[in-house]
Amino acid sequence: MSHEQFWAQEGLSHMIPSGFGEFPEGFDVREVLKSLAEDLNYRSVIDFGCGYGRLCESFAKEKYLGIDVNKEALEMAEKKYEGYRFELSQPKPLYADIYLAHTVFLHLQDKEIHEALRQMRCKYLIISEILGKEWRREGLPPAYNRNLSDYVTLLRSHDLILHREEKKPYKRYADTAFYTHKNTDISFLVFKKLSCNPKMS
Ligand SMILES: C[S@@+](CC[C@H](N)C(=O)[O-])C[C@H]1O[C@@H](n2cnc3c(N)ncnc32)[C@H](O)[C@@H]1O
Repeated sequence: MSHEQFWAQEGLSHMIPSGFGEFPEGFDVREVLKSLAEDLNYRSVIDFGCGYGRLCESFAKEKYLGIDVNKEALEMAEKKYEGYRFELSQPKPLYADIYLAHTVFLHLQDKEIHEALRQMRCKYLIISEILGKEWRREGLPPAYNRNLSDYVTLLRSHDLILHREEKKPYKRYADTAFYTHKNTDISFLVFKKLSCNPKMS
């Protein structure tokens, strides 16, 4: 089973760590994303792997499109967030000034990220997740957490360079003694496209 098939049939499980409320991160992620996006002066945003849409309110309704492979999550998003657009992810090029991947890429293998990046037409890509290979694990879903240098190399082959990095403690993990030997910050990595031609979309 591919990762895409796994997520497509997972219902609402594994979207966020369970038992820690809507924001296990321990802060309102939407405020951080809103501020990052506004600094980029965006007119459109695609939330790649939007899940049930919990982050859509970071962005203006008319600028937002959430895409995901999980129909059940998209149905819930549509019910919960009136006026926001959500669509099933398709293997076709789509343009937005900003792409966001919040806790999505860590669940994808390099080759799946390359495939996704080939369809992303954008000026900026925000990847937000916990960095650190010490988090890698097998299982369902698997985790392929990377170091910052891994992302810099991986994205450079798609003409994306690191533009900005913000970090905040991820409460669900930072508050647990069990994880003291691991990085428990969540990083918000803003990558900028060196060349961008929206007409290609
Ligand atoms: C850990 S959840 C995060 C959901 C959301 N970003 C959030 O933070 O609430 C990962 C999401 O990525 C989606 N996903 C996984 N692979 C995908 C792909 N190839 N294209 C689009 N969405 C994908 C999954 O269905 C799932 O909703």
